[in-house]
Amino acid sequence: MTLSSHNLNLPELSAKDTLIGFDPRVSVEGVEEVRIDLGQARSYSILIGEGLLSRDEVWSDLPKARAALIVTNTTVGPLYEEKLRARLQSQYQQVWSLHLPDGEEHKTWESLNLIFDKLLGSGADRKTVLFALGGGVVGDLTGFAAATFMRGVPFVQVPTTLLAQVDSSVGGKTAINHPMGKNMVGAFYQPERVICDLSVLNTLPAPELSAGLAEVIKYGPIADPLFLDWLEQNMDLLMQKDPKALAVCVRRSCEIKAWVVGLDERESGLREILNFGHTFGHAIESGLGFGKWLHGQAVAAGMVMASELSVLLGGVEAPFVSRLKALLAKAHLPTVGPDLPPQTYLEHMRMDKKSVAGDIRFVLLSCVGKAHVRTAPEAEVISVLKQCTSAQALGYAVTP
Ligand code: NAD
Ligand code: GLY
Repeated sequence: MTLSSHNLNLPELSAKDTLIGFDPRVSVEGVEEVRIDLGQARSYSILIGEGLLSRDEVWSDLPKARAALIVTNTTVGPLYEEKLRARLQSQYQQVWSLHLPDGEEHKTWESLNLIFDKLLGSGADRKTVLFALGGGVVGDLTGFAAATFMRGVPFVQVPTTLLAQVDSSVGGKTAINHPMGKNMVGAFYQPERVICDLSVLNTLPAPELSAGLAEVIKYGPIADPLFLDWLEQNMDLLMQKDPKALAVCVRRSCEIKAWVVGLDERESGLREILNFGHTFGHAIESGLGFGKWLHGQAVAAGMVMASELSVLLGGVEAPFVSRLKALLAKAHLPTVGPDLPPQTYLEHMRMDKKSVAGDIRFVLLSCVGKAHVRTAPEAEVISVLKQCTSAQALGYAVTP
């Protein structure tokens, strides 16, 4: 695969820029490390393994400061805050914590302000380190708080959902939602480290595991046909939270994301491919109201829509859509979206950050393993929406 064939507004890339090959071997006992390469000042490691919250070596050499703030939520805090606190107390004189309300509907200014209130009320300074302990909501909020508090303080991601381990904690996108659109206010701001303890996934509810698998599945069609094959062969093990399968899947997802972010940190081209399924998916989330469908569920239905649109516009071949639907169904994910009026979808999609002058731009598949970004005639988009939505899906519960 030549990277320039993505045709995504990037300079010609050399062989050293190619994605490293997929290796399905992994050591369950060890700690896997994936590097995000962003030059000397901002490169960092993603550490992946079982029981990392109890392994001192992973927590050494954290940013030096007097104090640290653990930002978590009312669900994750009671489960894991004490373990994290035990790791941090030997390194920081003071360790504060804040339990935010749980849920996508709380990814707001109000929650962000609770973080600032806590920091200012506790006497935080410019060195205070923030630890995001939770899923993508906590991670995105904490990252944005870190990017803006006193014009920037260090932060560490401790992702506790599969989705956050394979995607949201990596790559430095931080944001809150606006009632008119998803992730509309935010910043690119990289963490100092990402620590993925696979053991915490044991308490993750099944629908949340599935939602994470949607973002995992995304990486196959856009970048790695061999990983897609592996996912088809190993989906049952992943659904059973098999530790080895999870380690392979988290590491490979992070490798692909690290490759993309290393080439295009601020999304001037290649990084847009990570939004496969998200243009439709974000419209489902904001069209229904945040929190009605899980982000990963919306992305799953969105990937089917984007694939159908790719087929209509002469990209990937039709059998791929059946293949994708079968894999999503194995992961207990929706393969159709709710039948909101097409105009509602279009309105929300025009708000997408990839839109230019009101023209919606979609991540589509040229073939399996290669994506590109383009506009599409409205008639084709509406035809896909009619084909890929159903009234039944409207009632698809967050916890099916
Ligand atoms: P989430 O943060 O809402 O977590 C899902 C649920 O699982 C929550 O109720 C949470 O409290 C609970 N939970 C978390 N860890 C748990 C554990 N170990 N055991 C039991 N319960 C646990 O949702 P998410 O799917 O992690 O993240 C979705 C968010 O991530 C969305 O806001 C999305 O926009 C964002 N996102 C950001 C990026 C990025 O690059 N920054 C990428 C993808 C998604
Ligand atoms: N999840 C999309 C991105 O990080 O770019």
